[in-house]
Amino acid sequence: MPKLIVVTREGEEREIMGEAGLSVMEAIRDAGIDEVLALCGGCCSCATCHVHVDPEFAAKLPKMSADEDDLLDSTSDRDERSRLSCQIELTDALDGMKVTIAAED
Ligand code: FES
Repeated sequence: MPKLIVVTREGEEREIMGEAGLSVMEAIRDAGIDEVLALCGGCCSCATCHVHVDPEFAAKLPKMSADEDDLLDSTSDRDERSRLSCQIELTDALDGMKVTIAAED
């Protein structure tokens, strides 16, 4: 089961375990961290699951779709590490990845 390190908006680091096959968003929510609102339920239409991903893992992430790119453009806190966590499937290759929950829009 891959481990994730989640940095909350208060700067607290939480280690969580997520089932491979879940999205990073689902793993964060299942761990009881409620800062990721995920209003659209993971269908890439709200951007409330925005996170900043550890650059070490950038090459292991699935390619960003045009929809995800457009949605991230609508957020105020986008940077080169930005991804929508519902669009990242948790795999063993992502074990130990650190994600920081983006500022609220
Ligand atoms: S949960 Fe809505 S875009 Fe990710």
